[in-house]
Amino acid sequence: MPESFSDILSRGSVFIDRNVMSPHYIPENLPHREKEINKIMRAVLPALKNQRPQNLFIYGKTGTGKTSSVKYVMAKFAEMKSNSAISHVNCRIYNSRYRILNKMVAEHAPKFAKPGFGISFLYEKILDWVEGDGKNFIVILDEIDMVRDLDDLVYTLTRANDDLTKGGISIIGISNRLSFKDRLDPRSRSSLLETEIVFPPYNSKQLQSILEGRVKVGFADGVVRESAINLAAAIASQETGDARYALQLLLKAGEIVDEAGGNGVEDKDVELARKSVDEDVAYDAISTLPEHQRVVLYAVASMTISGSRYQKLSDNGEGYLLSGEVYEGYLSYSRKLGKKPRSARWFRQYLSDLEMLGLITMVESGKGQRGHTRLIRIAYSPEKVKDIIEKSIA
Ligand SMILES: Nc1ncnc2c1ncn2[C@@H]1O[C@H](COP(=O)(O)OP(=O)(O)OP(=O)(O)O)[C@@H](O)[C@H]1O
Ligand SMILES: [Mg+2]
Repeated sequence: MPESFSDILSRGSVFIDRNVMSPHYIPENLPHREKEINKIMRAVLPALKNQRPQNLFIYGKTGTGKTSSVKYVMAKFAEMKSNSAISHVNCRIYNSRYRILNKMVAEHAPKFAKPGFGISFLYEKILDWVEGDGKNFIVILDEIDMVRDLDDLVYTLTRANDDLTKGGISIIGISNRLSFKDRLDPRSRSSLLETEIVFPPYNSKQLQSILEGRVKVGFADGVVRESAINLAAAIASQETGDARYALQLLLKAGEIVDEAGGNGVEDKDVELARKSVDEDVAYDAISTLPEHQRVVLYAVASMTISGSRYQKLSDNGEGYLLSGEVYEGYLSYSRKLGKKPRSARWFRQYLSDLEMLGLITMVESGKGQRGHTRLIRIAYSPEKVKDIIEKSIA
């Protein structure tokens, strides 16, 4: 017989407030970000004196506290008296100039937010609204690299300052991908990057104290071993210095302990959590892969299981595949699935997409009788990967 709700409820939990460990929770203070927070405050300060702030660009790897720090500062900013307004745009969702302008109008001049208006109409309405009382409008573009027509957007927003007789518009751009700058027009690049702040990754000590702060409010007193916190911090700092990942490890570890009816979070629970969190990440990445990349990954997984030619040729080729044999595998799986395979050039693009997502790793083989060739290795258990793909196709 399954358990009843009251059985489960009465079993208790290591958490006091599980929500505190969630990535969406905004903590009251952000240790080890004092300097960065101070810089952001200085950057927006002019708006409190009725002057237009310079555009600001914030860069740093994932989980380094960029979004949280900006939200923290803007919440304090909003408590101050000033003639200004803020829009916080998540560009993963609002990913084009049109959508972003439309969102601004919907937020600040809602009576004009009807479907079907063109860009120039929306632009005029925003200008009217800013000029109305000469405010400083601060637009936060989080994950700005996701905007498809970013040059157009930056151009429109900076040009607005020439068209405005009163007030101004400033941009705070946030990104964890530096390479997107390369595809920007030099003009929009220089206006976007007027001021720049870089968020460094956290080291293991810093992650420890971040975790300790959250554990104090999220977990019951004394249930999380200090060594378990240190382990989660060490794992996350080895990977990327990502606070989100470190928090996920402890959240998952707590869930594992709750499920087993235990009463303390130990190192072994963090180890188990690591496997499960990594698999969740892989699962999300794999199940949203475009079709051809998925077939390539499927070929990599299947061939790793069946044993590669490279493995048979070389003493230390364990787990590696030749890119040529993977291409053959891709061709044959595509045909089996009734899909038309793409050329070798596309195939190389798919491989680099998969590498970017951390699903495979690639190395150049040394010069040998085969010349230069790329060796490919799957990053997760090939059986699991194959399983996920088969389920997501069905
Ligand atoms: N200094 C800190 N103190 C406490 N918690 C932090 C700190 N830095 C980050 N976090 C937590 O880590 C998680 C990720 O932070 P945040 O979303 O700000 O990262 P990000 O730099 O914007 O990452 P991404 O580039 O992936 O968007 C959040 O849950 C946040 O609360
Ligand atoms: Mg962010």
